[in-house]
Amino acid sequence: MSIHNPDIKRVTTHTIQELKNKGEKISALTAYDYSMAQVVDAAGVELILVGDSASNVMAGHETTLPITLDQMIYHASSVVRGVKRALVIVDLPFGSYQGNSTEALRSAIRIMKESGAHAVKMEGGLEIKESIVRILSAGVPVMGHLGLTPQSIYKFGTYAVRAKEEAEAQKLIEDAHMLEDIGCFGIVLEKIPAALTKTVSKSLTIPTIGIGAGPDADGQILVIHDLLGITNEFKPRFLRRYADLHKIMTEAIAHYVDDVKINDFPNEKEAY
Ligand code: KIV
Repeated sequence: MSIHNPDIKRVTTHTIQELKNKGEKISALTAYDYSMAQVVDAAGVELILVGDSASNVMAGHETTLPITLDQMIYHASSVVRGVKRALVIVDLPFGSYQGNSTEALRSAIRIMKESGAHAVKMEGGLEIKESIVRILSAGVPVMGHLGLTPQSIYKFGTYAVRAKEEAEAQKLIEDAHMLEDIGCFGIVLEKIPAALTKTVSKSLTIPTIGIGAGPDADGQILVIHDLLGITNEFKPRFLRRYADLHKIMTEAIAHYVDDVKINDFPNEKEAY
């Protein structure tokens, strides 16, 4: 059962701004393939992120760094084919935009042209301002991402909560305002103190989407594999599991193995 708004036929960046304006929370989830995107979209999620977390949950890498632009485009185009209503946002992967703004624009254009997605997301603040401005000026909507930015994991050294100290919190607030001023349509806030999320979200006009950032972001996002309990070893405090699909799927597959072994599958009705 979902309480999603059936009046929204197609979610755009304007729709999510309207949701913030009227105080309605925004739901967001990741998806990386056609079938899952169909399910997530049909359930009423407004924003579907083709996250570079595909590097972790789809490819089994330890970090998000290895995934390539071509691989992101493959995931994104599969998701786009499965979505009728949600706004599809795609992560620019590590190495595809940090070099210079020309390279950043080229990467964003490839994503938009080759996948049919509706927007891109980029990690960072002032240090990537020029690239974001260049992409925005080409008419591509950009979502920012501040706080724990996993593409910088080797700089941080840990996945612990960010911006607990005053100086980092202050920089995050300045970066958030800069992203709003240059025209980003929203900002993901990852793993920061709830009080900071509240301050930032209240002071911005554009919506914030939190993950591990407390209840006061304008919306929430989770990695779909975590929400469904497909990944069963990742247990951060912020995660609420809505199902234990790891168990359900393992049991179903074990049942199938048994049926094959005892020659119960296929039976007469399942044969031609
Ligand atoms: O890649 C990703 O899945 C993300 C979300 C966790 C926000 O960036």
